[in-house]
Amino acid sequence: MQHDKVLILDFGSQYTHRSARRVRELNIDSEIHPFNKIPHNIQDYKAVILSGSPFSVRGDDVLHPNLSQIRGKKPLLAVCYGAQYLAHFSGGEVAPSNTREYGRANLSFIQKGEPFFAHINQGSQVWMSHSDTIKHLPENSVVLASTHDVENAAYKIEGEVTYAIQFHPEVYHSTDGKQLLKNFLVTIADLKQDWTPDSFIEETIEAIQEKVGHDKVVLGLSGGVDSTVAAVLLNKAIGENLYCIFVNNGLLRKNEFESVLNQYKGMGLNVKGVDATKKFLDALSGIEDPEKKRKAIGNAFIEVFDDEAHKLNDVKWLAQGTIYPDVIESVSATGGPSATIKSHHNVGGLPDFMKLKIVEPLRAIFKDEVRRVGATLGIDPELLGRHPFPGPGLGIRILGDITAEKVRILQEVDAIFINGLKQWGLYDKVWQAGAMLLPVNSVGVMGDERTYEKCVALRAVESTDGMTADWVNLPYEFLQKTSNEIINKVKGVNRVVYDISSKPPATIEWE
Ligand code: XMP
Repeated sequence: MQHDKVLILDFGSQYTHRSARRVRELNIDSEIHPFNKIPHNIQDYKAVILSGSPFSVRGDDVLHPNLSQIRGKKPLLAVCYGAQYLAHFSGGEVAPSNTREYGRANLSFIQKGEPFFAHINQGSQVWMSHSDTIKHLPENSVVLASTHDVENAAYKIEGEVTYAIQFHPEVYHSTDGKQLLKNFLVTIADLKQDWTPDSFIEETIEAIQEKVGHDKVVLGLSGGVDSTVAAVLLNKAIGENLYCIFVNNGLLRKNEFESVLNQYKGMGLNVKGVDATKKFLDALSGIEDPEKKRKAIGNAFIEVFDDEAHKLNDVKWLAQGTIYPDVIESVSATGGPSATIKSHHNVGGLPDFMKLKIVEPLRAIFKDEVRRVGATLGIDPELLGRHPFPGPGLGIRILGDITAEKVRILQEVDAIFINGLKQWGLYDKVWQAGAMLLPVNSVGVMGDERTYEKCVALRAVESTDGMTADWVNLPYEFLQKTSNEIINKVKGVNRVVYDISSKPPATIEWE
């Protein structure tokens, strides 16, 4: 079944991803493509949105899309740079703004009876982020809305289904942004709202069956949300032909290997747990440099996975939990599409499992959509709500060299911290949390005895995607209890500190 789809042409705005997500919140499928790589199957898209941009239409490096197959032929919504682009190249005038036009503003005028602004009232808050402004509208245009500082905050071009807005409906501070997108996409452009988790699941299962047929597929489970949801979808599609491998690298959280493995088995997955703790710890022995640790862990994983994949006869496919943000090609600060997609060069030197054909059932959806799909598939909400955890695990939270004893200490500390967050109802308010074992011994007194033991740092952050993060203001009482419990229960630790650094400049992980 074909769904109505929106094409979002990206001019490098920091908000382009949000546009796609907001459209999808309306249960309408959307895809982002660079402004200069308009898809050949343009007929498959029912409406087009032009994004904002860090560039100016007045600059030498103006980004020129070829809109010949779009303007006047499809409903078009131009946002910020897009609105200025239309104005500038259609007989209007764009000039630098006299006043600051960044942040919240309110619509002081809305054209009466205009379906584009249906159910949106005067005073509605919008989010502005631009340094140029549209002084004169293009030919055949009428102004639809204004703010105190921006007269031409919204306009339409008569004779075509073309609307343009200076503000950003995709940003949550534009309180009626979703309504506005709905007015444009559903009322004006007549798109159907039929893209739901259920329809996604149904279609993805069919697509997998068609693609892999009766072939065998291997998949590496990590305990995280993406690989789990991918596995459940594949399992529904091909059942026992899906072979999952879950590797214990010895750097997982306390008891995680056993508990997650049991959970997977309870979900009916055909999963093999491989405890390779010793191999990983041997490979890491004496290594202190964070990047060398990552390499050693990555290489050990590839060896273990390759060995296991070889034990399965006749596997033709490798399944991966890749999600949409990993595959979107976005426009970089220089105006060209930036290659965020990893290329498989040097195929000859790759391990055998990487020469398999690839199936990626989640490559069209965002993380929050993966969670919604997971919930619809009946996956345990606790598993779906888990904090992100890095692939190298505790290996990059033990600063300096790694030993089995250090892993044990950190697992104990981490378990006290994470269980405490859960007991206090704080876990879901935090985006990611964990403990770091520092290469520092400090003096303490316990009873009448002098101690000289390890120091641990606790870190809890708020974030949306891990790119930026703020430390969380955890209650003092919680920190006090947690610190007491760690020092009393974990042998080898006599000091606990709380990390109050934001990212940037401090990264979330200490290594
Ligand atoms: P940083 O430390 O760069 O982390 O602020 C941002 C997010 O990425 C995770 N992270 C990793 N994940 N392999 C991973 O799979 C890695 O080597 C790695 N390093 C950092 C980190 O946990 C956080 O969620």
